Amino acid sequence: MTELPFHYQKGELYCESMPVDSIAEDVGTPFYLYSYGHLVERVKTLKQAFSEVNFQTHFAAKANSNISVLRILALEGCGMDVVSAGEIFRCIRAGADPSSIVFAGVGKQEWEMRYALELGIGCFNIESEAELELLGAVAKDMGKRAPIAVRVNPDVDPKTHPYISTGLKKSKFGLTPEKAKALYKRAMEMDSIEIVGIHCHIGSQITTVSPFRDAVERVIALVVELRKEGITIRDLDMGGGLGIRYKHETPPTPFELAEAVVPMVKEIGLNLHMEPGRWISGNCGALITKVLFEKRGETKNFLVVDAAMNDLARPSLYGAYHSIMASPLREGDGDVWDVVGPICESGDFLAQERELPPVKPGDLLAVCSAGAYGFTMSSNYNSRCRVPEVLVKGEGYWLIREREEFEDLVRGERIPPFLLEEEE
Ligand code: LLP
Repeated sequence: MTELPFHYQKGELYCESMPVDSIAEDVGTPFYLYSYGHLVERVKTLKQAFSEVNFQTHFAAKANSNISVLRILALEGCGMDVVSAGEIFRCIRAGADPSSIVFAGVGKQEWEMRYALELGIGCFNIESEAELELLGAVAKDMGKRAPIAVRVNPDVDPKTHPYISTGLKKSKFGLTPEKAKALYKRAMEMDSIEIVGIHCHIGSQITTVSPFRDAVERVIALVVELRKEGITIRDLDMGGGLGIRYKHETPPTPFELAEAVVPMVKEIGLNLHMEPGRWISGNCGALITKVLFEKRGETKNFLVVDAAMNDLARPSLYGAYHSIMASPLREGDGDVWDVVGPICESGDFLAQERELPPVKPGDLLAVCSAGAYGFTMSSNYNSRCRVPEVLVKGEGYWLIREREEFEDLVRGERIPPFLLEEEE
């Protein structure tokens, strides 16, 4: 399977069997474009790679929470990993089985716990003692037993961007193995709590196997200790974090990852759960934008496009690299450009110092690997309407989210009466 679902045919860019230009003519630019086939294949590959153990994938809905995307994945047997009641709502709307949902996050609120318990979600991944106490009280009040896993912070360095490293001691996430053990003991005393698993998530865009191996090893060591205390664990959730290729990275394949962790998990006899977001949806999608102007400066050349940092925040926020495919693909020598948007910030760029083939105003650029943390991190900054999302399957495409309109920008806003002219 090629890494990207985009390719050229006679110089024209295609997503699956669909020319991107014709979609652009129909829906306008910018827009997010996702490949159905890519999504399905990713889920199937994971299943295959981990087929030697009892394995369940939970897609990290924060990566891409469009309800059509969630539905595709749910129909493929994916569970969901959520971090808010809003994400639970989306998953349910998409038709996901509530019992396949795992709920993470350091700040779950009482009303979110109630909502999740009412629906019967699969597992609360507990991040602190205070959270466990609150969940216990809420479940008791509702006459329910809340299924839990404790999130362990295994203190391994995933060697990724500091903003997306989560498994180090200094991180706000999870608990040290010692504290986790104490929490399990406390949970054993609570009638309204049912211990089902153990959880860790060490970071995102991890491109080597060893941090995963180390984390799983440490978590399993804790499971062994817990067993000695008479605490049995059924599920090991190793979190998400498997990296993808944006540029030249060579992340492990799921098969390589499985080779490292499956024997350990098999030996101890646990079910294995995983929460990939980026690996499933990252390379399924691109942000399609149109070239507006060329602006040649003293020291830099700018290609001004109609998408901006509010549409795709990753380049500005993390200095992230997203490869760009131009359509049509023109012959000849290209140029080096900063690809920038219309927002009033110097940090508004989608690419810097990027060599591109010859481009002209009106051409399309596909900013690739934008299917994860693309639309979900977009905003209305500069009062820009959020862009549509389009799904391609074979020779067909579907609008799976409409472009926002001006009225959407002010929806819910109110002018207090004292600012309005007094009625005569
Ligand atoms: N599970 C938990 C508990 C998480 O916090 C995350 C991501 C995942 C799973 C999924 O991780 P993935 O497989 O996608 O690496 N906005 C950043 C990424 C933030 C990731 C936050 N947590 C970015 O654009 O790179």
